[in-house]
Amino acid sequence: MNIILLGPPGAGKGTQARRLVEEHGMVQLSTGDMLRAAKTSGTEMGNKVAEVMARGDLVTDDIVIGLISEQLDGEAGQHGLIFDGFPRTLAQADALGKLLDEKGKTLDSVVEMKVDDDALVDRISGRFTCSKCGEVYHDTTKPTAKEGVCDVCGSTEFTRRADDNPDSVRVRLMAYYRSTAPLIGYYHAKGKLVSVDGLGEIDTVAADIKQGLGL
Ligand code: AP5
Repeated sequence: MNIILLGPPGAGKGTQARRLVEEHGMVQLSTGDMLRAAKTSGTEMGNKVAEVMARGDLVTDDIVIGLISEQLDGEAGQHGLIFDGFPRTLAQADALGKLLDEKGKTLDSVVEMKVDDDALVDRISGRFTCSKCGEVYHDTTKPTAKEGVCDVCGSTEFTRRADDNPDSVRVRLMAYYRSTAPLIGYYHAKGKLVSVDGLGEIDTVAADIKQGLGL
């Protein structure tokens, strides 16, 4: 099964993608994670990407489409895929449709995660991530079981994202409403859209997604 998780910044796409990976052996393709990796490469492209992401704007379509295309050509293409944070524009959605056609793959469902703006800001401002394994936590809604120690890998190193600040969050929300929200209608018209209330607890949202996907 190949799915897209679609929702505004902080909706819980990464959190739910990791659950689907653990429980259903799917592969998460997060363009945000790929771009954060590119940022640290020190190349000219990496430096440009870093500037755009820090502002909260969208990186150009050709860069992210190229990253996804490489993944589909590689080992990831052999598994059930979760597109997390991609596509984010109509051009990206069209490109994904073409790439999947070329590989003889289908897009099964697009899960729209609905969360209101106030909750998004709370979620983003409380987020921290294990530097070693990437597990995502939240100061109040998902703290580590033992303070300062990652539940998954035991690391004691955590990071907070540079774009999780109030100015960038405002720009990211604008980019979502301007460029990405139109994809809700796009996929609804294709009969692919499954909408879930993303405001519930993490386990409740996970159960709703599984029910919506028939898993
Ligand atoms: P990206 O990394 O994709 O960020 P995003 O879309 O802004 O989404 P987030 O990662 O902030 O949130 P999420 O929905 O994954 O939420 P999470 O699970 O972490 O993109 C970053 C940047 O890269 C973009 O701004 C852009 O510049 C660039 N980019 C990426 N893809 C691109 C593309 N395709 N085209 C162009 N540019 C692109 O949860 C958030 C917090 O809430 C966590 O602390 C979590 O523990 C908590 N939480 C999760 N679920 C719940 C719940 N149900 N209840 C309570 N707390 C919860």
